[in-house]
Amino acid sequence: MQTTELTITDAVVARMANATSPRVREISEALVRHLHAFVREVEPTLEEWFAGIDFLTRTGQMCSPTRQEFILLSDTLGVSMLVDSINHRVPGGATETTVLGPFYVADPPEQPLGADISAGKPGERLLVLGTVRGVSGEPVAGAVVDTWQSDSEGYYDVQLEGAELALRARFRADGEGRFSFWSLVPSSYPIPDDGPVGHMLRQQGRHPYRPAHVHFRIGAPGYEELVTHVFVAGDEYLDSDVVFGVKESLVHELERHEPGTAPDGTAVDTPYAVLRYDFVLAGSAR
Ligand code: BEZ
Ligand code: FE
Repeated sequence: MQTTELTITDAVVARMANATSPRVREISEALVRHLHAFVREVEPTLEEWFAGIDFLTRTGQMCSPTRQEFILLSDTLGVSMLVDSINHRVPGGATETTVLGPFYVADPPEQPLGADISAGKPGERLLVLGTVRGVSGEPVAGAVVDTWQSDSEGYYDVQLEGAELALRARFRADGEGRFSFWSLVPSSYPIPDDGPVGHMLRQQGRHPYRPAHVHFRIGAPGYEELVTHVFVAGDEYLDSDVVFGVKESLVHELERHEPGTAPDGTAVDTPYAVLRYDFVLAGSAR
């Protein structure tokens, strides 16, 4: 039967009555209803419609094993953080979550507690002193702590041609849930913006920057895995993170120190910073 501007939405939805599961049907129906509502609101010209198709085509073509432009699109439109929030309504007291981002490398090499992961790169030295606890305050002995971050110029090791692994590692918390390592104070940085998403940001009058942060992925049996960052207080981009990942509880002041003996006993001959942060994991049986 013929459809009209007014009836086409119901006609498409009706065609999905035999979807392979109720969930597939629910998602497909909502997609069609919202997509049609968008088109009705915007009333695109044919030229605009084809520009949209071309944008999505170029987004797909930009993807490679080391570049996921669709995730960047989801990140910059706030969808990644919305999905993250819906899936992590953590109990009071648990550390808040934020996006994983594209620069995580699975199974980073494990380092002993206190190791220096800066690989000789320049920058202000940073001592990270952390604890991992459960919501009842119990230490999570042996928690696996993966960390990764940008260097003092705003680059991750994986972005640099031929560069060796740097500023990323795995640590295992001690019997009291403590971990520590030496790193560098991270810098704010632009997300990769040489593709369609960067073009979109410029068209939308937006900058591509993320405020400086250190990433953490923390897991232990019996606890929900925590994916989060700690943001450096005072960063100029905290209020305008291009991926909307900042949560107030994750913004933390660095302690600044003159040369001397650091809290872990290391003798340091330059000014350095200390980041102390206590992570709290939600139980997995929620
Ligand atoms: C990151 O923090 O590494 C990141 C997150 C989302 C998009 C790009 C980078
Ligand atoms: Fe990052």
